[in-house]
Amino acid sequence: MGRVASVLPEPQVKPPRPLAAFRGSVLHFLSDPADGGASAVDFHPDGMLVVRDGRVAECGPADALVGKLPAGVPVTDYGGKLILPGFIDTHCHYAQTDIIASHGEQLLAWLEKYAFPAERRFADPTHAAEVAEFFCDELLQNGTTTALAFATVHPTSVDALFAAAARRRMRLIAGKVLMDRNCPEFLRDAPDGGYAASRTLIERWHGRERLLYAVTPRFAPTSTRLQMTVAGRLYAEHAGVYLQSHVAENEAEGAWVAELYPEARSYLDVYARYALLGPRTVFAHCIWLDDADRARMAAAGAAASFCPTSNLFLGSGLFDLERAHAMGLRVGIGTDVGGGTSFSLLQTLNEAYKVLQLRGQNLTGERAFYLATLGGARSLYLDAHIGNFETGKEADFVVLDPHATPLLARRMAHATTLGERLFAFMMLGDDRAVAATHVLGEPYRRPTLRG
Ligand code: GUN
Ligand code: ZN
Repeated sequence: MGRVASVLPEPQVKPPRPLAAFRGSVLHFLSDPADGGASAVDFHPDGMLVVRDGRVAECGPADALVGKLPAGVPVTDYGGKLILPGFIDTHCHYAQTDIIASHGEQLLAWLEKYAFPAERRFADPTHAAEVAEFFCDELLQNGTTTALAFATVHPTSVDALFAAAARRRMRLIAGKVLMDRNCPEFLRDAPDGGYAASRTLIERWHGRERLLYAVTPRFAPTSTRLQMTVAGRLYAEHAGVYLQSHVAENEAEGAWVAELYPEARSYLDVYARYALLGPRTVFAHCIWLDDADRARMAAAGAAASFCPTSNLFLGSGLFDLERAHAMGLRVGIGTDVGGGTSFSLLQTLNEAYKVLQLRGQNLTGERAFYLATLGGARSLYLDAHIGNFETGKEADFVVLDPHATPLLARRMAHATTLGERLFAFMMLGDDRAVAATHVLGEPYRRPTLRG
């Protein structure tokens, strides 16, 4: 797929097998444990997942399913390990991979000093292809099988990311950044050019294989009113496309938005004024919102992406999960790489727990893993396809090893409940705990780099 990428090592993804089975502890969620209690959790300590043509055929206790398997069906033994739906990252920037862990700034200065110069390099398709391949491998290595990602302002950066995801048969949503003011000249587009380029990309990628397009105005300060209008048109004109942006991340950013858009009631209201709130719209951060904003997002069907590692790293603030939930807002988890500090949803849940502690809120292991799986799928309106192991869903899954590190094994030996085990995974685990990641039932093997 493209001359540039063909010089990179080929990812190892086999086509789905007609029938395959996986035995281990199997866990998935049927609803939010905060609403559904115990009935939200479907757990089979000795369980089996049966996959037909890349989709879930059956999920249940192994002793009930093993006898029903036709002779000769391969059974992969994940005994002692935990099989979960693939993790869903609802907010990240692939072009910021190389500036993850950049020291010393809060949002606006961090953008100028680190993010914009890094994104500039994506004018070069060779660079974009190389980073896109690494990024998709890193997602899968961490058990993340679906992501909603920002590319850069360069259309070829979107091509590179979708091509890398398609090679791995991943579900991925992404889009070209729209940004026509308050940014360096070298990253600036224009309302008409951004509109035309986005349209072309939608026609090329939206709905192709497992890929979907997101209209991507970076955030209100970097778009003129005309470009905000154009983003609304793109979102309205194309059935099923997404819209992703940032809102209410940082207090200085909020004050700047109030200066730029004095007519708006709130930062969120800016997006509402340009018809950018609705189903399949996802806003990262959502920290400095009030309940009127939350209610408005919820009523529109918009989702919040909770990005705790980024919010702590950039000193942005503390997301209020309790208020979001009380107002009926959809919430998923985002790494926000590279403002966020880890590709691991486990590490992201670790920091989510700590953010909520500082708010006097209490995130259980069950709720955390719900947010990273079905909660993410619901935020992305993909729960008919992914997020749990209901029959017919796409069989993306992650296998976690409770003995992956000496410390994890030691802590697990003292964990007596499922909730305790999940909590140990999220507090002590990272990509070392990911024994395998399966896409459409098939294990993904990262290509070994030459030289
Ligand atoms: N707001 C606008 N752009 C960005 C970005 O790249 N990262 C974060 N964390 N916030 C943003
Ligand atoms: Zn972001």
